[in-house]
Amino acid sequence: MRSLIIANWKCNPSTFKEAKILFNSLKKRLKKIRNVEVVICPPFVYLSSSKFQVLSFKLGAQDVFWEERGAFTGEISSKMLKDLGVEYIILGHSERRQILKETDEMINKKIKATLNNKLKSILCIGETEEERKEGKTFEILKNQIEKALSNLQTYKLRNLIIAYEPIWAIGSGKPCQVNEAMTAALFIKKLISHLYNQKIGRSIRILYGGSVNSLNASNYIREAKMDGLLIGGVSLNSKEFVKIIKQLN
Ligand code: 13P
Repeated sequence: MRSLIIANWKCNPSTFKEAKILFNSLKKRLKKIRNVEVVICPPFVYLSSSKFQVLSFKLGAQDVFWEERGAFTGEISSKMLKDLGVEYIILGHSERRQILKETDEMINKKIKATLNNKLKSILCIGETEEERKEGKTFEILKNQIEKALSNLQTYKLRNLIIAYEPIWAIGSGKPCQVNEAMTAALFIKKLISHLYNQKIGRSIRILYGGSVNSLNASNYIREAKMDGLLIGGVSLNSKEFVKIIKQLN
């Protein structure tokens, strides 16, 4: 299967002009990429500007609301995103969990809404530095997965992707060891097999995210056998980001 490389631009760049430059640069550099699935997740406000120029990559959003429409000031629904050509939604990112106090219950509702709308959900999970030191990593991952997927029908998991993003590795320049990422991915697959069935456990795509760069990226794919990467900081530099993709193409 092709590797899935996802750019999470987070709250960047700060102007439409810069976003357009980045989109155009990616479009040009990614023209000949065939063997890697590339997804760009810009802030909501830049999604529509890219709608008609997306050929070399797919579009994703960084969050969504669980209702389809109505009196929910400030929110954006799966249906609206789908209408803009969005195919992927990042959910439960640790920055949203920590800064915006997003709960497992909210994440569960969002996952259900996106999967019901046939969008691909990328569920982010990961432990803090403290939890890791206390040996609680697997307990945390298990808890996050069980709560996020609570009461979710088996067939809907076809469109679910799980991103292991240890919080201590995000934006810290301290990436997770390749063997640690591999152990986490195996743990997740086993848990999904146990919660659902082996077929789903085996086929569910697991990504790694946290201080990925062009020097370490291919190790996660080739050695740790991750199905893809979720990239923050480096994805804002089109040259570096495309360098990673070319290594995997
Ligand atoms: P960095 O690649 O900047 O560490 O961010 C990872 C991340 O949070 C992607 O969602």
